[in-house]
Amino acid sequence: TKRKVIFSGIQPTGVPHLGNYLGALRQWVQLQDEAAPDTRLLYSLVDLHAITVKQDPEQLRKLRRDMMATLIAVGLDPNRSILFHQSSVPAHSELMWILSCYASMGYLSRMTQWKSKLSLPENASPLDPSTKTKLKLGLFSYPVLQAADILVHQATHVPVGADQAQHLEFSREIAASFNHFHGDVLVPPDTIISPAKRVMSLTQPTLKMSKSHSNPTSRILLTDSRDTISSKIRSAVTDSTIGVTYDPVERPGVSNLVAIMVHLNEEPGVTCDDLANDMKDFSMKSLKEKVTDCIEKHLEPIRERYLEVINVNEGKVLADAAETGAQKASESATVTMNIVRNAIGL
Ligand code: ADP
Ligand code: NA
Repeated sequence: TKRKVIFSGIQPTGVPHLGNYLGALRQWVQLQDEAAPDTRLLYSLVDLHAITVKQDPEQLRKLRRDMMATLIAVGLDPNRSILFHQSSVPAHSELMWILSCYASMGYLSRMTQWKSKLSLPENASPLDPSTKTKLKLGLFSYPVLQAADILVHQATHVPVGADQAQHLEFSREIAASFNHFHGDVLVPPDTIISPAKRVMSLTQPTLKMSKSHSNPTSRILLTDSRDTISSKIRSAVTDSTIGVTYDPVERPGVSNLVAIMVHLNEEPGVTCDDLANDMKDFSMKSLKEKVTDCIEKHLEPIRERYLEVINVNEGKVLADAAETGAQKASESATVTMNIVRNAIGL
């Protein structure tokens, strides 16, 4: 059987929140910890994707470092998982160019990401007069770079959220178009491992927790101090019904707090209904204290490790990890690029 190659990416857009952790990062760590010895794991800090929107250079440097620190802090081991800045492996961009010669404008026009980034309606066209000046080529062709990220490492498994399923389908499609001309060269990733854990906003619990919400108390960051966690949870929206029940439709705020505890604890067989039942006579204040304790228990070691890798020896751990990661990822990408170039006649 074929060697398993797991690839995933995250944009360096600041310290991740609890939703990013439960919906993505913790799964990356689990995949690492459960991987067979010959499984290759690549986790990329996708800085070339980040520049599809305007970035301040000093700020971007800091964001890249913060994200590397976070990945290590949550438990990714740079000696086991290949952690690398996307821009440190030029093959990603090179394969993107090659794939863009096989990508149809029509297919890309139907993708939703550029529309949502520019707050445009579903049926927007890239050539609409009001769109074409503000829509940059990089944002429009973002899915092609994403396909290159996956295909350049011959990834077989790509853990992504449901919102990214469309992009994975595009990657398969473009691999098939390329292979149609050149034979079995690119490996269409065939498995999506989608994280099931969804965390909702603390202040608008019918929306998912997101860095794009302007209210900073709507999300818990992985590096928040105990006091900050406590004050954000205290101001979380609940309701005036007495006692605790799990009912995401009628009681989204309370249910989100229960779900956060269940997801964090991962006790086998304990459901949200079970936990809500255990706390059925709790006041909102007691529920919130319980949730705060639970979050603090899980985030404290992450926060400590984060501060350590950022501060010790001016972040030498981070620089070393980035260098090792770039080297290993380049080796993996070079294998593919040699085959691709040869197939094309370059
Ligand atoms: P954001 O919505 O904060 O901008 P991103 O879109 O950068 O987050 O997502 C990064 C990763 O975190 C993705 O894999 C995404 O599916 C996951 N993720 C983001 N928000 C949540 C959430 N509230 N609950 C669960 N997973 C989430
Ligand atoms: Na987002």
